[in-house]
Amino acid sequence: MKKILLKVEKMIPGGDAISYFNGKAVFVDGGVPGDRIEAEIVKEKKDYITARIIKLIEPSEARTNPLCPYFPECGGCQWQMVDYQWQLKFKKDIILDAFRRIGKIQELPIENVIGMEHPWNFRNKVQYPLKRTRSRVLIGYYREGTHHIVDIDTCAVQLKQFDPVLKGFKKILKEEPLTIYNEQKHYGKLRHFVLRGSENTGETLVILVVKETAIVKTFAEKILALDPERIIGVVENINPRRTNVIYGPQTRKVIGRPYYMEKVLGKSFRVSALSFFQINVAQVTKLLELIKSKIGDGYRLIIDAYAGVGLFALNVADRAKVVIGVEESTSSVKDARENISINNQFNVDYFEGRVENVLPTLERPDLLLLDPPRKGLEKEVIDFIVDKRPHEIVYVSCNPVTLARDLKILVEYYDIELVQPFDFFPHTHHVETLVIMRKK
Ligand SMILES: C[S@@+](CC[C@H](N)C(=O)[O-])C[C@H]1O[C@@H](n2cnc3c(N)ncnc32)[C@H](O)[C@@H]1O
Repeated sequence: MKKILLKVEKMIPGGDAISYFNGKAVFVDGGVPGDRIEAEIVKEKKDYITARIIKLIEPSEARTNPLCPYFPECGGCQWQMVDYQWQLKFKKDIILDAFRRIGKIQELPIENVIGMEHPWNFRNKVQYPLKRTRSRVLIGYYREGTHHIVDIDTCAVQLKQFDPVLKGFKKILKEEPLTIYNEQKHYGKLRHFVLRGSENTGETLVILVVKETAIVKTFAEKILALDPERIIGVVENINPRRTNVIYGPQTRKVIGRPYYMEKVLGKSFRVSALSFFQINVAQVTKLLELIKSKIGDGYRLIIDAYAGVGLFALNVADRAKVVIGVEESTSSVKDARENISINNQFNVDYFEGRVENVLPTLERPDLLLLDPPRKGLEKEVIDFIVDKRPHEIVYVSCNPVTLARDLKILVEYYDIELVQPFDFFPHTHHVETLVIMRKK
Protein backbone atom coordinates (compact mmCIF):
# COMPACT_ATOMS: atom_id res chain seq x y z
CA MET A 1 0.00 0.00 0.00
CA LYS A 2 1.14 3.52 -0.79
CA LYS A 3 2.61 5.57 2.06
CA ILE A 4 2.21 9.35 2.31
CA LEU A 5 3.16 12.21 4.67
CA LEU A 6 0.24 14.27 5.95
CA LYS A 7 -0.77 17.02 8.33
CA VAL A 8 -4.19 16.50 9.90
CA GLU A 9 -6.15 19.72 9.39
CA LYS A 10 -9.54 19.50 11.08
CA MET A 11 -12.44 17.48 12.45
CA ILE A 12 -15.61 17.52 10.37
CA PRO A 13 -19.26 16.67 11.15
CA GLY A 14 -19.43 12.94 11.81
CA GLY A 15 -16.17 13.15 13.76
CA ASP A 16 -13.68 12.30 11.01
CA ALA A 17 -10.23 13.86 11.02
CA ILE A 18 -9.41 15.36 7.65
CA SER A 19 -6.17 15.97 5.82
CA TYR A 20 -5.46 16.83 2.18
CA PHE A 21 -3.29 15.07 -0.41
CA ASN A 22 -2.96 16.33 -3.99
CA GLY A 23 -6.12 18.40 -3.45
CA LYS A 24 -8.15 15.39 -2.27
CA ALA A 25 -9.66 15.08 1.21
CA VAL A 26 -8.06 12.28 3.23
CA PHE A 27 -10.02 10.72 6.12
CA VAL A 28 -7.46 9.78 8.76
CA ASP A 29 -8.73 7.17 11.18
CA GLY A 30 -7.74 8.20 14.74
CA GLY A 31 -6.10 11.43 13.57
CA VAL A 32 -6.12 14.67 15.58
CA PRO A 33 -5.86 18.13 13.99
CA GLY A 34 -2.26 19.27 14.21
CA ASP A 35 -0.77 15.74 13.88
CA ARG A 36 2.04 15.27 11.37
CA ILE A 37 1.88 11.65 10.30
CA GLU A 38 3.11 8.97 7.99
CA ALA A 39 0.00 7.26 6.70
CA GLU A 40 -0.91 4.31 4.54
CA ILE A 41 -3.64 4.72 1.95
CA VAL A 42 -6.39 2.18 2.67
CA LYS A 43 -8.78 3.19 -0.10
CA GLU A 44 -8.57 5.74 -2.90
CA LYS A 45 -11.78 6.91 -4.56
CA LYS A 46 -12.45 9.58 -7.18
CA ASP A 47 -12.95 12.38 -4.66
CA TYR A 48 -11.53 11.13 -1.36
CA ILE A 49 -8.96 8.88 0.25
CA THR A 50 -9.11 6.92 3.51
CA ALA A 51 -5.83 6.41 5.36
CA ARG A 52 -4.39 4.73 8.44
CA ILE A 53 -1.69 6.21 10.66
CA ILE A 54 1.56 4.21 10.52
CA LYS A 55 3.72 6.66 12.43
CA LEU A 56 2.98 9.79 14.45
CA ILE A 57 5.89 11.96 13.33
CA GLU A 58 4.81 14.94 15.40
CA PRO A 59 1.76 14.54 17.64
CA SER A 60 -0.77 17.38 17.83
CA GLU A 61 -0.68 19.54 20.96
CA ALA A 62 -4.35 18.59 21.37
CA ARG A 63 -3.43 14.96 22.13
CA THR A 64 -3.65 13.52 25.61
CA ASN A 65 -3.52 10.08 27.23
CA PRO A 66 -6.90 8.32 27.21
CA LEU A 67 -8.19 7.68 30.72
CA CYS A 68 -10.01 4.46 29.93
CA PRO A 69 -8.10 1.15 29.47
CA TYR A 70 -10.67 -0.03 26.89
CA PHE A 71 -10.05 2.92 24.56
CA PRO A 72 -9.80 2.84 21.52
CA GLU A 73 -10.96 -0.81 21.09
CA CYS A 74 -14.31 -0.07 22.72
CA GLY A 75 -16.50 1.87 20.29
CA GLY A 76 -18.30 3.84 23.01
CA CYS A 77 -15.97 6.90 22.83
CA GLN A 78 -14.04 8.17 19.81
CA TRP A 79 -12.14 11.17 21.14
CA GLN A 80 -10.50 10.14 24.41
CA MET A 81 -7.08 10.80 22.83
CA VAL A 82 -8.05 14.49 22.57
CA ASP A 83 -7.62 16.84 25.55
CA TYR A 84 -11.06 17.91 26.80
CA GLN A 85 -10.66 21.65 26.16
CA TRP A 86 -9.54 20.84 22.60
CA GLN A 87 -12.58 18.56 22.15
CA LEU A 88 -14.76 21.59 22.90
CA LYS A 89 -12.88 23.68 20.36
CA PHE A 90 -13.18 20.99 17.67
CA LYS A 91 -16.92 20.70 18.33
CA LYS A 92 -17.35 24.43 17.75
CA ASP A 93 -15.35 24.09 14.51
CA ILE A 94 -17.67 21.28 13.41
CA ILE A 95 -20.72 23.53 13.89
CA LEU A 96 -19.07 26.44 12.06
CA ASP A 97 -18.14 24.11 9.21
CA ALA A 98 -21.74 22.85 8.91
CA PHE A 99 -23.22 26.36 9.08
CA ARG A 100 -20.86 27.70 6.40
CA ARG A 101 -20.84 24.73 4.00
CA ILE A 102 -24.43 23.53 4.35
CA GLY A 103 -26.30 26.50 5.82
CA LYS A 104 -24.41 29.08 3.72
CA ILE A 105 -24.48 31.21 6.88
CA GLN A 106 -21.28 33.20 7.44
CA GLU A 107 -22.14 35.66 10.21
CA LEU A 108 -23.06 33.77 13.34
CA PRO A 109 -23.56 34.86 16.96
CA ILE A 110 -21.94 31.64 18.17
CA GLU A 111 -20.54 31.15 21.68
CA ASN A 112 -17.89 28.70 22.86
CA VAL A 113 -19.11 25.20 23.66
CA ILE A 114 -20.23 24.86 27.29
CA GLY A 115 -18.45 21.79 28.61
CA MET A 116 -18.56 19.78 31.83
CA GLU A 117 -16.39 20.57 34.85
CA HIS A 118 -15.82 16.82 35.29
CA PRO A 119 -16.52 15.13 31.95
CA TRP A 120 -16.87 11.57 33.33
CA ASN A 121 -19.62 9.40 34.86
CA PHE A 122 -22.46 11.34 33.22
CA ARG A 123 -24.13 8.73 31.01
CA ASN A 124 -27.48 7.76 32.55
CA LYS A 125 -28.31 5.04 30.02
CA VAL A 126 -26.10 2.18 28.83
CA GLN A 127 -27.18 -0.58 26.45
CA TYR A 128 -24.75 -3.48 26.44
CA PRO A 129 -24.99 -6.36 23.96
CA LEU A 130 -23.79 -9.77 25.19
CA LYS A 131 -22.06 -12.76 23.64
CA ARG A 132 -21.19 -16.21 24.96
CA THR A 133 -17.74 -17.51 24.09
CA ARG A 134 -16.51 -21.00 24.96
CA SER A 135 -15.34 -19.90 28.42
CA ARG A 136 -17.43 -16.87 29.44
CA VAL A 137 -20.02 -14.22 28.67
CA LEU A 138 -18.82 -10.93 27.18
CA ILE A 139 -20.67 -7.70 27.99
CA GLY A 140 -19.63 -4.35 26.55
CA TYR A 141 -19.71 -2.08 23.55
CA TYR A 142 -19.12 -3.14 19.96
CA ARG A 143 -15.69 -2.41 18.55
CA GLU A 144 -16.14 0.53 16.15
CA GLY A 145 -17.78 -0.62 12.91
CA THR A 146 -17.97 -4.31 13.95
CA HIS A 147 -20.13 -6.69 15.95
CA HIS A 148 -17.20 -7.82 18.12
CA ILE A 149 -17.91 -7.10 21.77
CA VAL A 150 -15.17 -5.49 23.87
CA ASP A 151 -15.73 -7.03 27.30
CA ILE A 152 -15.71 -4.40 30.05
CA ASP A 153 -15.99 -4.40 33.86
CA THR A 154 -16.57 -0.69 34.15
CA CYS A 155 -17.09 2.36 31.97
CA ALA A 156 -15.63 5.79 32.71
CA VAL A 157 -18.56 7.71 31.24
CA GLN A 158 -21.47 5.76 32.76
CA LEU A 159 -23.04 6.82 36.09
CA LYS A 160 -20.95 5.50 39.01
CA GLN A 161 -24.02 3.78 40.46
CA PHE A 162 -24.00 1.42 37.42
CA ASP A 163 -20.54 -0.03 38.21
CA PRO A 164 -21.54 -2.55 40.90
CA VAL A 165 -24.60 -3.58 38.89
CA LEU A 166 -22.56 -4.38 35.77
CA LYS A 167 -19.97 -6.34 37.76
CA GLY A 168 -22.56 -8.15 39.84
CA PHE A 169 -24.69 -9.02 36.82
CA LYS A 170 -21.70 -10.77 35.21
CA LYS A 171 -21.38 -12.94 38.31
CA ILE A 172 -25.10 -13.76 38.35
CA LEU A 173 -24.90 -14.86 34.71
CA LYS A 174 -22.33 -17.51 35.68
CA GLU A 175 -24.86 -19.08 38.05
CA GLU A 176 -28.02 -18.78 35.94
CA PRO A 177 -29.01 -21.18 33.18
CA LEU A 178 -30.05 -18.29 30.90
CA THR A 179 -28.99 -18.64 27.26
CA ILE A 180 -27.28 -15.71 25.53
CA TYR A 181 -28.61 -14.59 22.17
CA ASN A 182 -26.54 -15.42 19.11
CA GLU A 183 -27.41 -13.04 16.27
CA GLN A 184 -26.09 -15.25 13.45
CA LYS A 185 -28.09 -18.28 14.56
CA HIS A 186 -31.00 -16.23 15.99
CA TYR A 187 -30.77 -18.56 18.95
CA GLY A 188 -30.65 -17.92 22.71
CA LYS A 189 -32.60 -15.53 24.93
CA LEU A 190 -30.72 -12.61 26.54
CA ARG A 191 -29.94 -9.95 23.90
CA HIS A 192 -29.11 -6.73 25.77
CA PHE A 193 -28.39 -5.61 29.32
CA VAL A 194 -29.61 -2.05 29.82
CA LEU A 195 -29.19 0.28 32.78
CA ARG A 196 -31.00 3.59 33.17
CA GLY A 197 -30.98 5.85 36.17
CA SER A 198 -30.56 9.17 37.86
CA GLU A 199 -27.77 10.61 39.95
CA ASN A 200 -30.23 13.17 41.36
CA THR A 201 -32.66 10.61 42.77
CA GLY A 202 -30.13 7.75 43.06
CA GLU A 203 -32.49 5.32 41.29
CA THR A 204 -31.47 2.62 38.79
CA LEU A 205 -33.78 0.67 36.48
CA VAL A 206 -32.57 -2.62 34.98
CA ILE A 207 -33.94 -3.65 31.58
CA LEU A 208 -33.21 -7.07 30.12
CA VAL A 209 -33.95 -7.38 26.42
CA VAL A 210 -34.81 -10.97 25.57
CA LYS A 211 -35.82 -12.86 22.44
CA GLU A 212 -38.69 -14.47 24.31
CA THR A 213 -39.89 -14.12 27.87
CA ALA A 214 -37.21 -15.56 30.15
CA ILE A 215 -36.73 -13.51 33.29
CA VAL A 216 -38.23 -15.19 36.32
CA LYS A 217 -38.79 -13.50 39.67
CA THR A 218 -35.93 -15.31 41.49
CA PHE A 219 -33.48 -14.10 38.82
CA ALA A 220 -34.78 -10.52 39.17
CA GLU A 221 -34.45 -10.76 42.97
CA LYS A 222 -30.76 -11.57 42.58
CA ILE A 223 -30.34 -8.43 40.44
CA LEU A 224 -32.23 -6.32 42.98
CA ALA A 225 -29.94 -7.64 45.73
CA LEU A 226 -26.89 -6.19 43.91
CA ASP A 227 -27.88 -2.71 45.15
CA PRO A 228 -31.22 -2.80 47.01
CA GLU A 229 -31.00 0.92 47.87
CA ARG A 230 -30.84 2.06 44.25
CA ILE A 231 -32.27 -0.62 41.97
CA ILE A 232 -35.98 0.11 41.97
CA GLY A 233 -37.11 -2.39 39.37
CA VAL A 234 -36.29 -5.03 36.78
CA VAL A 235 -38.24 -5.19 33.52
CA GLU A 236 -37.93 -7.39 30.48
CA ASN A 237 -38.41 -6.17 26.95
CA ILE A 238 -39.23 -8.84 24.42
CA ASN A 239 -37.69 -8.51 20.98
CA PRO A 240 -38.34 -11.66 18.94
CA ARG A 241 -37.14 -10.18 15.64
CA ARG A 242 -33.97 -10.77 13.65
CA THR A 243 -32.84 -7.14 13.73
CA ASN A 244 -30.21 -4.69 14.93
CA VAL A 245 -32.94 -2.59 16.57
CA ILE A 246 -32.49 -3.13 20.30
CA TYR A 247 -36.04 -3.04 21.65
CA GLY A 248 -39.09 -5.07 20.77
CA PRO A 249 -42.73 -4.08 21.06
CA GLN A 250 -43.54 -5.64 24.44
CA THR A 251 -42.28 -4.65 27.89
CA ARG A 252 -43.12 -6.50 31.11
CA LYS A 253 -42.36 -5.61 34.70
CA VAL A 254 -40.69 -8.52 36.53
CA ILE A 255 -40.15 -6.93 39.93
CA GLY A 256 -40.43 -3.49 41.55
CA ARG A 257 -41.30 -0.40 39.48
CA PRO A 258 -41.16 -0.32 35.65
CA TYR A 259 -39.77 3.25 35.64
CA TYR A 260 -37.20 5.39 37.45
CA MET A 261 -37.62 8.95 38.68
CA GLU A 262 -35.48 11.92 37.59
CA LYS A 263 -35.46 15.42 39.02
CA VAL A 264 -34.46 18.52 37.02
CA LEU A 265 -34.75 22.12 38.28
CA GLY A 266 -37.28 21.14 40.93
CA LYS A 267 -39.57 19.17 38.57
CA SER A 268 -39.98 15.39 38.84
CA PHE A 269 -40.06 13.06 35.86
CA ARG A 270 -41.14 9.46 35.61
CA VAL A 271 -39.09 7.70 32.89
CA SER A 272 -40.19 4.25 31.69
CA ALA A 273 -37.97 1.69 30.00
CA LEU A 274 -38.77 2.79 26.44
CA SER A 275 -39.22 6.54 27.00
CA PHE A 276 -36.67 9.09 25.86
CA PHE A 277 -34.66 11.04 28.39
CA GLN A 278 -31.57 13.20 27.88
CA ILE A 279 -28.38 11.19 28.50
CA ASN A 280 -26.50 13.95 30.31
CA VAL A 281 -28.67 15.54 32.96
CA ALA A 282 -26.05 17.97 34.33
CA GLN A 283 -25.65 19.50 30.86
CA VAL A 284 -29.33 19.58 29.90
CA THR A 285 -29.95 21.38 33.19
CA LYS A 286 -27.55 24.14 32.07
CA LEU A 287 -29.30 24.27 28.70
CA LEU A 288 -32.72 24.60 30.34
CA GLU A 289 -31.47 27.33 32.65
CA LEU A 290 -30.19 29.26 29.66
CA ILE A 291 -33.46 28.81 27.74
CA LYS A 292 -35.41 30.03 30.76
CA SER A 293 -33.18 33.08 31.10
CA LYS A 294 -33.57 33.98 27.40
CA ILE A 295 -37.29 33.50 26.83
CA GLY A 296 -40.00 35.84 28.07
CA ASP A 297 -43.09 35.46 30.20
CA GLY A 298 -46.87 35.69 29.79
CA TYR A 299 -47.06 33.71 26.52
CA ARG A 300 -50.48 32.65 25.35
CA LEU A 301 -49.33 29.39 23.78
CA ILE A 302 -46.01 27.52 23.78
CA ILE A 303 -45.70 24.38 21.63
CA ASP A 304 -43.01 21.88 22.62
CA ALA A 305 -42.48 19.76 19.50
CA TYR A 306 -40.66 16.41 20.03
CA ALA A 307 -41.48 16.69 23.71
CA GLY A 308 -40.39 13.34 25.22
CA VAL A 309 -41.64 12.91 28.79
CA GLY A 310 -42.14 16.66 29.20
CA LEU A 311 -38.71 17.91 30.28
CA PHE A 312 -38.92 21.21 28.35
CA ALA A 313 -42.72 21.60 28.49
CA LEU A 314 -42.91 21.31 32.27
CA ASN A 315 -39.90 23.54 32.80
CA VAL A 316 -41.42 26.42 30.81
CA ALA A 317 -45.03 25.80 31.90
CA ASP A 318 -45.15 28.77 34.28
CA ARG A 319 -44.33 31.13 31.38
CA ALA A 320 -47.52 30.46 29.40
CA LYS A 321 -51.27 30.10 29.69
CA VAL A 322 -51.14 26.85 27.73
CA VAL A 323 -48.27 24.55 26.75
CA ILE A 324 -48.81 21.77 24.20
CA GLY A 325 -46.37 18.89 23.89
CA VAL A 326 -46.25 16.81 20.69
CA GLU A 327 -44.59 13.40 20.85
CA GLU A 328 -44.87 10.17 18.85
CA SER A 329 -43.76 7.61 21.43
CA THR A 330 -46.68 6.09 23.33
CA SER A 331 -44.45 5.28 26.29
CA SER A 332 -43.14 8.88 26.52
CA VAL A 333 -46.64 10.36 26.19
CA LYS A 334 -47.91 8.10 28.98
CA ASP A 335 -45.05 9.24 31.22
CA ALA A 336 -45.58 12.87 30.24
CA ARG A 337 -49.26 12.75 31.24
CA GLU A 338 -48.20 11.27 34.59
CA ASN A 339 -45.51 13.98 34.94
CA ILE A 340 -48.08 16.73 34.34
CA SER A 341 -50.02 15.32 37.25
CA ILE A 342 -47.01 14.72 39.55
CA ASN A 343 -45.93 18.34 39.07
CA ASN A 344 -49.47 19.79 39.25
CA GLN A 345 -48.92 21.57 35.94
CA PHE A 346 -52.36 21.25 34.46
CA ASN A 347 -51.89 23.96 31.81
CA VAL A 348 -49.74 21.44 29.89
CA ASP A 349 -51.48 19.20 27.38
CA TYR A 350 -50.07 16.45 25.17
CA PHE A 351 -50.82 15.24 21.65
CA GLU A 352 -49.59 11.80 20.65
CA GLY A 353 -48.46 11.66 17.02
CA ARG A 354 -45.79 12.70 14.60
CA VAL A 355 -44.92 16.41 14.74
CA GLU A 356 -45.18 16.68 10.94
CA ASN A 357 -48.80 15.47 11.15
CA VAL A 358 -49.94 17.17 14.37
CA LEU A 359 -48.28 20.59 14.13
CA PRO A 360 -50.15 21.69 10.96
CA THR A 361 -53.44 21.11 12.83
CA LEU A 362 -52.48 23.46 15.69
CA GLU A 363 -52.76 27.23 15.93
CA ARG A 364 -49.79 29.57 15.85
CA PRO A 365 -47.78 29.46 19.09
CA ASP A 366 -45.99 32.55 20.45
CA LEU A 367 -43.00 30.35 21.18
CA LEU A 368 -42.11 27.13 19.38
CA LEU A 369 -39.66 24.72 21.02
CA LEU A 370 -38.06 22.23 18.64
CA ASP A 371 -35.86 19.32 19.73
CA PRO A 372 -35.99 16.87 16.81
CA PRO A 373 -34.01 13.63 16.38
CA ARG A 374 -30.84 13.61 14.25
CA LYS A 375 -32.70 13.83 10.94
CA GLY A 376 -33.94 17.34 11.81
CA LEU A 377 -37.21 18.94 10.74
CA GLU A 378 -39.57 17.45 8.18
CA LYS A 379 -40.82 19.63 5.31
CA GLU A 380 -44.28 19.96 6.92
CA VAL A 381 -42.69 21.45 10.06
CA ILE A 382 -40.72 24.02 8.06
CA ASP A 383 -43.87 24.84 6.06
CA PHE A 384 -45.82 25.38 9.29
CA ILE A 385 -43.15 27.78 10.59
CA VAL A 386 -42.96 29.73 7.34
CA ASP A 387 -46.75 29.89 7.12
CA LYS A 388 -47.62 30.68 10.76
CA ARG A 389 -44.42 32.52 11.82
CA PRO A 390 -44.29 32.01 15.58
CA HIS A 391 -42.68 35.04 17.19
CA GLU A 392 -39.82 33.10 18.80
CA ILE A 393 -38.23 29.74 18.06
CA VAL A 394 -35.93 27.75 20.31
CA TYR A 395 -34.29 24.99 18.26
CA VAL A 396 -32.23 22.39 20.13
CA SER A 397 -30.32 20.10 17.79
CA CYS A 398 -28.08 17.06 18.20
CA ASN A 399 -26.93 17.20 14.57
CA PRO A 400 -25.18 20.32 13.18
CA VAL A 401 -25.67 19.10 9.60
CA THR A 402 -29.48 18.95 9.67
CA LEU A 403 -29.59 22.05 11.87
CA ALA A 404 -27.63 24.00 9.23
CA ARG A 405 -29.87 22.62 6.47
CA ASP A 406 -33.02 23.76 8.31
CA LEU A 407 -31.61 27.16 9.27
CA LYS A 408 -30.65 27.83 5.66
CA ILE A 409 -34.39 28.13 5.00
CA LEU A 410 -35.43 29.73 8.28
CA VAL A 411 -32.90 32.61 8.23
CA GLU A 412 -34.97 34.19 5.48
CA TYR A 413 -37.74 34.74 8.03
CA TYR A 414 -35.88 34.76 11.35
CA ASP A 415 -32.92 36.52 12.93
CA ILE A 416 -30.57 34.22 14.80
CA GLU A 417 -30.06 35.77 18.24
CA LEU A 418 -27.89 33.11 19.83
CA VAL A 419 -26.08 29.91 18.93
CA GLN A 420 -24.95 28.19 22.12
CA PRO A 421 -23.39 24.74 21.80
CA PHE A 422 -23.29 22.36 24.77
CA ASP A 423 -21.23 19.26 25.28
CA PHE A 424 -23.75 16.55 26.18
CA PHE A 425 -21.46 13.74 24.98
CA PRO A 426 -17.84 14.22 26.13
CA HIS A 427 -15.21 12.07 24.32
CA THR A 428 -17.43 11.59 21.29
CA HIS A 429 -17.80 13.80 18.21
CA HIS A 430 -21.43 14.60 19.08
CA VAL A 431 -22.47 18.12 19.99
CA GLU A 432 -25.76 19.68 21.05
CA THR A 433 -26.65 23.15 19.77
CA LEU A 434 -29.18 25.62 21.11
CA VAL A 435 -30.37 28.25 18.63
CA ILE A 436 -32.67 31.09 19.61
CA MET A 437 -34.44 32.89 16.77
CA ARG A 438 -36.82 35.84 16.54
CA LYS A 439 -39.20 36.67 13.69
CA LYS A 440 -37.84 39.38 11.36
C1 LIG B 1 -34.18 14.58 21.11
S1 LIG B 1 -35.61 13.93 21.89
C2 LIG B 1 -36.18 15.35 22.76
C3 LIG B 1 -37.13 15.14 23.90
C4 LIG B 1 -37.31 16.28 24.88
N1 LIG B 1 -37.15 17.59 24.31
C5 LIG B 1 -36.36 16.11 26.05
O1 LIG B 1 -35.42 16.88 26.17
O2 LIG B 1 -36.57 15.19 26.87
C6 LIG B 1 -36.67 13.75 20.55
C7 LIG B 1 -38.03 13.18 20.91
O3 LIG B 1 -38.84 13.26 19.74
C8 LIG B 1 -39.55 12.05 19.55
N2 LIG B 1 -39.76 11.98 18.08
C9 LIG B 1 -38.89 11.61 17.12
N3 LIG B 1 -39.41 11.81 15.90
C10 LIG B 1 -40.65 12.34 16.10
C11 LIG B 1 -41.68 12.79 15.24
N4 LIG B 1 -41.54 12.74 13.91
N5 LIG B 1 -42.82 13.27 15.78
C12 LIG B 1 -42.98 13.31 17.13
N6 LIG B 1 -42.02 12.92 18.00
C13 LIG B 1 -40.88 12.45 17.49
C14 LIG B 1 -38.71 10.98 20.17
O4 LIG B 1 -39.53 9.90 20.59
C15 LIG B 1 -38.07 11.74 21.34
O5 LIG B 1 -38.87 11.64 22.49
